[in-house]
Amino acid sequence: MSMRKILLLAFFVSLAVFVAGCVQKGTSDKIKIGVYMPLTGGTATFGISSTNAIRMATEEINAAGGINGKQVELFVQDTRSEAQEAATVVSKLVTQDQVHAVIGEVGSSRSIAAAPICQSNKIPMLTPSSTNPEVTQKGDYIFRSCFTDPVQGEAIAKFAANNLKVKRGALLIDKKNDYSVGLGKFIADAFRKLGGEIVIEQYYQEGESDFNGQLTSIKGSNPDVIFVPGYYTEVGLIAQQARKNGITAPLVGGDGWDSQRLYEIGGQALVGSFFSNHYSVDDPDPAVQKFVNDYKTKYGNVPDALAATAYDAARIMFDAIKRAGSTDGAAIRDALAKTANFPGITGIVTLNSERNAVKPIVMIRVDQGGKYGVADRVTPEGAVAAPGTTASPATSASPAAGASPAAATSPAATGASPATAASPASSPARTGASPATSPR
Ligand code: PHE
Repeated sequence: MSMRKILLLAFFVSLAVFVAGCVQKGTSDKIKIGVYMPLTGGTATFGISSTNAIRMATEEINAAGGINGKQVELFVQDTRSEAQEAATVVSKLVTQDQVHAVIGEVGSSRSIAAAPICQSNKIPMLTPSSTNPEVTQKGDYIFRSCFTDPVQGEAIAKFAANNLKVKRGALLIDKKNDYSVGLGKFIADAFRKLGGEIVIEQYYQEGESDFNGQLTSIKGSNPDVIFVPGYYTEVGLIAQQARKNGITAPLVGGDGWDSQRLYEIGGQALVGSFFSNHYSVDDPDPAVQKFVNDYKTKYGNVPDALAATAYDAARIMFDAIKRAGSTDGAAIRDALAKTANFPGITGIVTLNSERNAVKPIVMIRVDQGGKYGVADRVTPEGAVAAPGTTASPATSASPAAGASPAAATSPAATGASPATAASPASSPARTGASPATSPR
């Protein structure tokens, strides 16, 4: 063998060793993401939809080569729809599995219970859908990629006052649920400011199934709307029992209604009621339609808002880890805080200095057969309008939408939080936009 051939052979052998080393490093050196979700219990559909969507986002990024060459591995834990269990499983994720970041929960009470564990261990946590303000107040490692309840509550109250033109509201609240108590208060405050009156306030507890006592009292005060900021299992039963008690006033609630189970439980009794939500499957945006189709193909059902918000949260987390260029908790935290103009399925996400997102809200009407209609779209101040809202005012079913002072449709509103925005907004349209926060 000539010297040249020997050198060439040596070169190829070392190349092979190098490549093998890289491949092995790639498999052993993963990005570990903890996911804690209610997979069983009273809000199981929330967790199942969310986890499905996070898995889909993970498979997509892994198929595309992972994040900075590393594959993403999920560590999924069931909270059983309980706050105490949420704290237990998040401790396990952080201390035993040593995850680099955490995504979860849906329910605010559980996110509030688990957030301090992430905070004290300096592991960034991103909730896709917990809307109670207290969640992100737990510390600077805690983020949410959805809107908050003060914003959602105002949208609900405005819808009732301006679109339904009602004045006498009843409140029916799940008293041990932070989300329900908080959202109820924000709805009441905003409704009163708009000239409405809360004529009666009644309470229940998650797991209850007989609401006849509360509904009898409510009927006695003759409201023309009943605000029910609860979760789908109880809301379905409340709707049924309200109609049986001869109450015809519409029920109006928040994102906690969204579940395939809602109509299975409440049926016909829900038709003509309304709730606020994070997105609508009917959004004509091609990015939304692609997500809806991909999810349907993979899981056999239409993705609800939980799936959409969780898909966005996973992708926002991946984007932050990519920009951090590291799996260090502090580095991921800093990158997450700089998330700006991220084109999500549920809207364009910029995280503000309070680590919250400001996004459009869709008011959904429950129609015959459990179909959802878009009753209104609200763009809170500081949010980027959904494409349909700016382009064609006709997508708003009600004239009140345009009249609402909160309906800021100007693309200028994108720069809402200059302190955290990595780059200025380029366009209000989601379609075809690339995450402004990704490194080029
Ligand atoms: N926002 C609710 C909470 O904080 C959870 C939820 C989000 C439920 C989205 C349904 C859809 O408790």
